[in-house]
Amino acid sequence: MSLFEEQWQTYRTVLEHDSMEHRAIAEATAAMLGAWFDQRGDQSPSVALVDLGCGDLARLSPLFRSLPLSSYTGVDLAASVLALAERQMGHVRFPCHWVCGNLLQWAEEDVGRSVDLIHSAFAIHHLSDSEKVRFLNGARRRIAHDGLLVWTDVFQEEHESRARYLERYVARVLQWPGLTGVQRDAVIDHLQRCDWPARCGWVESVASDSGWSLTWGWRGQHQAEALALLRPCI
Ligand SMILES: C[S@@+](CC[C@H](N)C(=O)[O-])C[C@H]1O[C@@H](n2cnc3c(N)ncnc32)[C@H](O)[C@@H]1O
Repeated sequence: MSLFEEQWQTYRTVLEHDSMEHRAIAEATAAMLGAWFDQRGDQSPSVALVDLGCGDLARLSPLFRSLPLSSYTGVDLAASVLALAERQMGHVRFPCHWVCGNLLQWAEEDVGRSVDLIHSAFAIHHLSDSEKVRFLNGARRRIAHDGLLVWTDVFQEEHESRARYLERYVARVLQWPGLTGVQRDAVIDHLQRCDWPARCGWVESVASDSGWSLTWGWRGQHQAEALALLRPCI
């Protein structure tokens, strides 16, 4: 198995055992999007959705397939994952576009066309804090005036150090079922090298400075996984 396949196999095991509360997150995402679509009251499919760090879509393709979209664009750094995502999405009524690229670059592109709905799950925490600020500013410029950014991710408690956050998270991973020792070590190594979760209060303040109104749509039971809803302030 290649390193890429091993990583996705590990992520699928984490999904299967619901170790990161993915089931509750999928339900919360469906409820939030349902309410947002109802409130728009669109009769025809007119919403363009961009999914940043879309991954293989094993988790959310049924939800996205059911939405009245005018288009879906999946953006991911990994070309190999986009092929899996395309297969998961299958045949749908709306056009799908698959973009191999960096979500920060996407946010900072100046294309002059606004996007109605941006979704990003478990990808933005890979950016540094200064990159997260640039992302929020860029996405704010790209979102439609009545648009929505759904940001699901891991977040840190406001007064917690990254070291303490990692200590807590690693203690959780050691209890996750279904993983081999090698997979567990790989998850812990990934956390320590790549995870830079935003602190909750910090992100509220940065979002506000960038012209967003942020509310928490869902918070998990581990003071880590959460779903933030960001609407552009007019
Ligand atoms: C943990 S997976 C989550 C996948 C999916 N969103 C989900 O929730 O199941 C994170 C994905 O984000 C992608 N990713 C990480 N950093 C990225 C970046 N800067 N730009 C685009 N994609 C990124 C990774 O390649 C990976 O596919």
